[in-house]
Amino acid sequence: MQINLGAQPFAAIETEALVSYVFEEADPVQGRIAEIDQSAGGLLRRLAKSGELTGKNLEFTLVHAPTGLKAARLLLVGAGKREQFNSATLRKIAGAALRYLKSRSVKNFALLVREGDATEESAQVIAEGALTAEFESDKYKTEKKNDKKIEAVPIAGYSDAERAAGEKGLAKGRTIAESQNFARDLINEPSNKLTPSILAQKAEAMAKSAGLSVEILDEKKIADLKMGALLSVAQGSVEPPRMIVITYNPPSAKPGAPVIGLIGKAVTFDTGGISIKPSDGMEKMKYDMAGGATMIGVMRALAALKPSLKVICVVPSTENMPGGRAQKPGDIQTAMSGKTIEVLNTDAEGRLILADGVHYAKQLGATHLIDAATLTGAIVVALAGINVGVFGSDQSFTDKLLASAKATGEKMWQMPIDDDYREFIKGTVADIQNIGSGKGGGAITGAMFIKEFTGDSPWIHLDIAGTAWNDDSKPWLAKGPTGVALRTLVHLVMSY
Ligand code: BES
Ligand code: ZN
Ligand code: ZN
Repeated sequence: MQINLGAQPFAAIETEALVSYVFEEADPVQGRIAEIDQSAGGLLRRLAKSGELTGKNLEFTLVHAPTGLKAARLLLVGAGKREQFNSATLRKIAGAALRYLKSRSVKNFALLVREGDATEESAQVIAEGALTAEFESDKYKTEKKNDKKIEAVPIAGYSDAERAAGEKGLAKGRTIAESQNFARDLINEPSNKLTPSILAQKAEAMAKSAGLSVEILDEKKIADLKMGALLSVAQGSVEPPRMIVITYNPPSAKPGAPVIGLIGKAVTFDTGGISIKPSDGMEKMKYDMAGGATMIGVMRALAALKPSLKVICVVPSTENMPGGRAQKPGDIQTAMSGKTIEVLNTDAEGRLILADGVHYAKQLGATHLIDAATLTGAIVVALAGINVGVFGSDQSFTDKLLASAKATGEKMWQMPIDDDYREFIKGTVADIQNIGSGKGGGAITGAMFIKEFTGDSPWIHLDIAGTAWNDDSKPWLAKGPTGVALRTLVHLVMSY
């Protein structure tokens, strides 16, 4: 799909649809919309009077063959109240318009930004919204969705003076959206097409073509480094584990500056192991590598956006399988850090592999740690599929992340991890145990476990179990993998 800045005045654009947006206010026909209304002989004001055009959030008003325009259709999308309008709304409008028109077999449309909106940020979020909305999970369908495809989206409404900023925003938005879709493609892969080794190969190929350094640790190297927690999960599977390490190290990084460690859980399939999961819905556990895929996607974006901070991405990857060699409830394992762990439930495997992941990231020099993981069903109970659960050991670092989440339109909600929760994971026969003792707070328990391996480093844990996958489609996004947290993390690193 081509997305670029158009040069023509809106009335002259020959397109299958001219798209713009209207606010929910006493008179939704104002500014550029009033200009369109004039060319169209007062049609829009009549629609507003009759109540068909209200500006309510994501309301669609489609007009065919509007007079005064070269466009075959005019589509007005409701933008909600003007005071609440922001770049997150504009991103959704771009995505929702694309999906609305695509389902009607339209192949190209022009998106006209409203007066005052011709900024770098608008162009960026329109690119993000449109490109992520285009993504379909039809890779393995031999018949694609009626070949419905949007080919071109020119953005209109930028003056010559505003073009440079628009182009800059577009380039940034394209990079971020393509990286998010790259992550979503990985998340979509079923476990027979994406084993830990295949994930490592794909990450390596991406890193090499993006100019990032990459090292893949195989099972032997993982054993040499005594990553006992990762190995304990992997031992039940015939597929060997991998530890994927991707590094972005710009010459502009100042000595003594923070080094960000991004650690992502990549369990390519989670059966639960010997503490096996119920079969109902188990197929969804192919997305238990979403945290890892997201971190790999973040690195892809950073390679192009070039922040002046060193970033180390560490992705432990394994299957979690039952089998003759699988670990059993009660087994005691020694993590790379030397801490001993009582594995009371083999289904709480994400925290085990992250234990070695965060420890290794620190050993490689990361000073600030962020992990992303589809860690617990409990976070789905707490926050449903709406908010990412955020846990942080350093409030000023966490506040930076929450600000980035806000700026990029990703909903995140902070959860507590004070010392009172530490007793949940105290071990009876080993240092710690990998589940709580039935006191509730399952998502916090998972976070407390990972925290044990972070030492004094500022650390943030993102539980994306509820938000990494949409069971239903949204007007602006297909159902399936979301790539959540990628935009926030890219923004955080870029603004650090
Ligand atoms: N991968 C799951 C968590 C999950 C649940 C991801 C729902 C996506 C959607 C994780 O490994 C797991 O099984 N967690 C257990 C922990 C429990 C045994 C303490 C859970 O949440 O039930
Ligand atoms: Zn599990
Ligand atoms: Zn899992």
